[in-house]
Amino acid sequence: MNFELTSEEKLVQETAREFAQKELKPIASEIDKNHKIPDEIIKKLSELGFFGVYIPEEYGGAGLSFLSYILVVEEISKVCASTGVMLSVHNSLTCNSIYMLGTEEQRSKYLPELTSGKKIGCFMLTEPEAGSDAANISTSIEKEGDFYVVNGNKIFVTNGGYRGYGILFATHNKSLRHRGISSFILDLETEGVNLTRNEDKMGLKGTYTSAFSLDSVRISKENILAEEGKGFKVAMELLDSGRVSIAAQALGMAEGAFDSAFEYSKTRKQFGKTINSFQAIQFKIADMAMKIEAARLLTYRAASMKDNHKNPILEASIAKTYASETANYVAKEAMQILGGYGYITEYDVERIYRDARITEIYEGSNEIQRMVISRMLLNK
Ligand code: CAA
Repeated sequence: MNFELTSEEKLVQETAREFAQKELKPIASEIDKNHKIPDEIIKKLSELGFFGVYIPEEYGGAGLSFLSYILVVEEISKVCASTGVMLSVHNSLTCNSIYMLGTEEQRSKYLPELTSGKKIGCFMLTEPEAGSDAANISTSIEKEGDFYVVNGNKIFVTNGGYRGYGILFATHNKSLRHRGISSFILDLETEGVNLTRNEDKMGLKGTYTSAFSLDSVRISKENILAEEGKGFKVAMELLDSGRVSIAAQALGMAEGAFDSAFEYSKTRKQFGKTINSFQAIQFKIADMAMKIEAARLLTYRAASMKDNHKNPILEASIAKTYASETANYVAKEAMQILGGYGYITEYDVERIYRDARITEIYEGSNEIQRMVISRMLLNK
């Protein structure tokens, strides 16, 4: 078993780390407070090729491995989880879907704008009555000549506020559940696509989490992604990749919180000694480090399976669940090490603690992941 990164992957990791530490870390708190990733950061992410990390160069992507993309999300999330999830939804749920399932026309038409960051992608699956039970969506499709006419409501759309391109899921017949669902590429500037709100949230404040009403939205038949009625499988397959990148995001957050607490423990003195000389702190450091190491190996394994053309359904769910629970554990312990300082906004641990919470919830709650894991094991 080879745990070594290739020289190309090491270079991507170093590039992402340097950018994250030098340019993103100093403004991460500002991004959280202003609820916005600055345009200059979007421009730099585009110059670095981070809007299409594993999309081939012919479509404007960087043409790197899936693991390289995971390393980018990890390094970025270490300092700014909002930027991490913006990239994650864009790369693995939007670019990936068009690259994996799109026709040549769809790839050439949509990917260059996405990989350049000119348009930012989103994933429009969840509805008020269809969260964990994704097959229960109600957004309806009627066929009208060369068009599909779509009506309904979508919520919790990460990146929705950019109004770029979305991967939309809707049903021809709700009683068919997953067999009635189709997927489409939707330009969010299309008439009838109404952004109804951007949510105010506990964390990830630099990202948009949007709600849309879709009122007689006309989508050309050329924009269907995969065959009619195959949309649910599309969603599930995309989420398999998406879940590996949420694992990477959570891993990055855990590492960010660990680094802060570790450094703090070296300089903070109580009872005449630095606090890292107390066993109570040393054991916390050891427990945090063990969990991070395990989360990293699980995440990289799932990513390398994708590079080896294996579908990591089980492995993605394990990595996502373990890494997200690690992020929450480490953020809590890091705050404990910093004591009162961990609770104030001057230190990044407070932000990471808020940001980490969602990783146990989105792209399939950890209860759903446990359902997937046990089903996979029982059906083997
Ligand atoms: N890959 C491919 N196909 C899959 C699959 C997978 N991982 N999982 C299921 N399928 C297929 C099944 O084989 C089945 O196909 P057939 O009918 O041909 O046999 C079909 O899909 C239906 O499968 P199930 O019977 O297992 O479906 P279910 O209704 O029991 O639901 C579920 C399965 C795993 C619970 C699914 O509903 C699920 O993942 N729910 C969570 C939804 C979710 O993750 N939402 C995230 C929203 S996006 C988001 O959060 C992004 C963001 O903005 C950050």
